[in-house]
Parts: sequence; C-alpha cells; structure tokens
Amino acid sequence: MLNTREIEHPAITHGEQAPSCTMVIFGAAGDLTKRLLLPALYNLARTELLPANFALIGVDRLEMSDDAYRQHLDAAVRAFAADKHYSQTLDEAHWGELLKRISYLPGDFSDPQAYGHLKHKLAELRQSQVESDSVLFYLAVGARFFGGIVDHLGQAGLLVEAEGAWRRVVVEKPFGNDVASARALNAQLRLNLYERQIYRMDHFLGKETVQNIMLMRFANAIFEPLWNRDHIDHVQITVAETVGVESRAAFYEGTGALRDMVPNHVFQLLALTAMEPPTSFAADAVRSEKTKVLDAVHRVNAATDSVRAQYTTGQRDGQALRGYRQEAAVAAGSTTETYVAMKLGVDNWRWSGVPFYLRTGKAMAKRSSEIVIQFKRPPLSLFRDTATEALTPNALVLKLQPDEGAALMFGAKIPGPNIAIGQVHMDFHYKDYFQNAPSTGYETLIYDCMIGDATLFQRADNVVAGWQIVQPLLDHWAGDASAALAHYAAGSDGPAESDALLQSSGRHWKPLL
Ligand code: BG6
Repeated sequence: MLNTREIEHPAITHGEQAPSCTMVIFGAAGDLTKRLLLPALYNLARTELLPANFALIGVDRLEMSDDAYRQHLDAAVRAFAADKHYSQTLDEAHWGELLKRISYLPGDFSDPQAYGHLKHKLAELRQSQVESDSVLFYLAVGARFFGGIVDHLGQAGLLVEAEGAWRRVVVEKPFGNDVASARALNAQLRLNLYERQIYRMDHFLGKETVQNIMLMRFANAIFEPLWNRDHIDHVQITVAETVGVESRAAFYEGTGALRDMVPNHVFQLLALTAMEPPTSFAADAVRSEKTKVLDAVHRVNAATDSVRAQYTTGQRDGQALRGYRQEAAVAAGSTTETYVAMKLGVDNWRWSGVPFYLRTGKAMAKRSSEIVIQFKRPPLSLFRDTATEALTPNALVLKLQPDEGAALMFGAKIPGPNIAIGQVHMDFHYKDYFQNAPSTGYETLIYDCMIGDATLFQRADNVVAGWQIVQPLLDHWAGDASAALAHYAAGSDGPAESDALLQSSGRHWKPLL
C-alpha cells in the first residue's frame, strides 16, 4: 500500500547526528551483517553520528534469543576490531551502548506472520526506546527475497509514512540479472514504495576514492578542459581481484563476472569518469548525469568487442593456485566466466571516438582498481630522432584500491648531451596527506539513508541503463557460453584475448602493478 500523498521529510545537514529511527536488518544472521553492517554502525556510534535513541532489530530464520544474538555480534565485532577498518581498540562504552539497543526476531521472510510480529516489536520499541516512527529496512538477503519482503512489508502497512516518520528500504545488489528482471523488480518495489524511499546499494560508492573521482574532475580547474576527445586517446578501467570464488560458488556459478561486477561497480566508475558536470551534488542532479552517459554508450558488438574467460591453475609468489573448475562446489564443466573485458564507445560530443576499455577478474596477479586516462601523443616533428616508443603519452591514473591516490605520467629529459626522453611519475598517495578514519565503506551509506541523501545510491533508471549495455553480451553468450570462453592462469594479468582487444589499435593494458 502506497502513501496517499507524498510527504516531505526535513533535510538533515551532513555531519549532524542522524535523526531518531529504528533499523531492521533482514538477513541479520548473515555474513554481511556481521562483517560490514555492524562494524559500520559501531563506527557511526563511536563518531556520534548514530541517532541518540537508536534501535536495531535483526530478523532471520534461525531461532535465537536477543542475548544469543547480541553475543554472536559481540564476538564478531571483537574479532574484527583489530582490522584497519575499525578502531584499533574497541570503544567499550559506545559498543556496549549500541549492543543494548539490539534485539532479534526469528522469522521466515515469506511468512506473513513474521511481519505481524515485526509490527508489534516496532510499536513496543516506539513506546520504550525510540523517539520516532521512522524505520530503515535493510535487505541483506539473497536477491530472490527482495520483492517478496517488500510486498509483505507493504501488506503489513509498514511502509506507510507519516509526518516526521519516514520509511526507507535498502536493497543490496544484485538488482536483477538482466534488463527485464531489473525492470520487473523496480515495478514490484514501486507497488509499495515511492522511488525516493528506495536505496539501491552499490558499495563501491561508499569508497572514498570512488567519491573522489567527481571531486578530482570538478573541483580542479586543470583537468576538466582536457577531459574530452580532443585530448584523450582512450580510457582504461580495471577492477582486478586476487581472490578467487572462495566459498561463494553457489552464488557465483549462476552469476559470473559480468553480472557480479560490471553493470554495477564497473559502470559506476565509468559513469563518474565520463559524465557531464551535474548542476549540484543533489541526488537527482548527479544520478541524471550518470544515466545520460550510460544511455549514450553505443551497442556493444559482443563478438568482436568483448572477452569472457575463466581462470585455470596457476601460481602467485611461488604458491600453486587452483583453477576455477577445481574450486569447492563449482561444476567440473562449468562455463561461468571469472573475467570479462570489453570495449565501449560513448556517443556524445565529449567522447565520440574515444574507446573505453573495461576489465575485471578474479584470481589475477594483483589486487588493483584503477582508471587510466591516456592522453594523445604529442606531434612528433620535434623528436624525429627519438624512437616513437620512447615518447610515451601522458596518462593520469586514478588509483582506487589498494594503494589509494593518483599518478600523472609525463616525459622528461634524460640528463646528458642528447635529447632523450624518459617517462616519469608524479605520485599522490592519500595516506601521505589525510589520516583515514577507520571505515568499512558502509558508514557513509547507512548514514546517508538515515539522513535521506540518495546521491550515492542507484536510481531505477541508473540500474536499467547499466543492464541495457550488457544485455547484448548476455544474449550473445547465452547462445553458446563455452565457445566464447577464453582461459587465463590464476595469478596472471588475464587472458591473451583481452590483450588483443587493445592491440588491434596499437594500444596496451597498463600492467597490473
Ligand atoms: C562484490 C562482488 O559486490 O564486490 C564480489 O559480489 C567482489 O565478487 C566485491 O569481490 C569487490 O568489492 P571490494 O570492496 O572487495 O573491492
């Protein structure tokens, strides 16, 4: 049931304590909750950003008492406390206070009764603990539950807002698995929610360095004049991981690298790199520009401009690595891709003719996410006697992780009697300038939901635009998945077929360093 009229909720300034609310996590016994959500809530409590009268209800199928649930979270958060994402020593006062505000509700997500119990529990907390009727529902569950949970919440009347009482729903990825399913899920959610109540999560947007792409581009006068087809030869976006499929085969076998990483994380990087300046940092201004640029990507020729591959046995640092098909719970003849690369073109005045090369893979040589802006070569006439290979063009590298920063490559004279050019780097490392507060990346995102800022979340049209770009690849591969499958050794930079995507035009991937 939708509200009968739209209600405006007052804007909260960033940095202020979030307004009073209850958070309900579906999937409360799962991995995401203990690894990321709780540590992020703890970091928010420690920095006084969590509402003063906060309450958290964990919902999951396991039978557990409040106390047992608190013990489960306490053990998990203590185990992670030493990690750099959390404060080195647990701040007992803040953690203890947060823990007291957590309760647990066993329930089957598909059972209407569970929502009756939830309604009752929310009313009880409203009496005893929380100062408002605002509720953030966080769906940390498998994608197959998203639609059903929202339907049940709607039927129980839990999504209806009132003056001073908002209701918001956070949906984790994957949001659909192709254009049709993403559209259908949007339509299903919209039966019970206004678009502004839906927060589609892409955790890459919680990363400081990803948010910094916009800042780099638009808060510095030196980059933007060069940021176009007159000066840029091509752009490379890499998200390389060293981890393999780990224990996630049940999810990954039916998903693969394309669906897992591209329409969401990799396209966020593409959109932030290629979009026009928004008129403000308001949610809709930013999200409209992102959709426009994704809509301008021309149809990919899957046969000639994409590569899908799977890792085979290999090694890293002398250690033998398993191939994908030898991983636990992976089918012996699996044709799921663990690597994907593609060449895209953006048909607008800024980018026409500039190829964007994207790649992402698991079990690669190095963990490295970066964006390379490769500028054009200078005219050669002054350097007739210099080998053209020595005239490496300028490149700006935005390093997203793990070595966060940026580097500018340019040519400089090699000292000596001859005019000889060498390539040099100007390097910026975040850690040299800013002290990073311990963070999982989820703090900003959860806080933004509580204050009602959806800038870092995907709007319905963003998600569909992403799926639209990859749909031709999904269709092409669906025809004959194994024929299109290349291979690369685990621990390597990826398959030779991916190098060939660039080599035909005399370009090369920047090596994974
Ligand atoms: C997730 C994918 O969304 O992002 C994983 O499902 C991937 O397969 C992960 O490993 C990468 O995120 P991060 O933050 O570790 O770079």
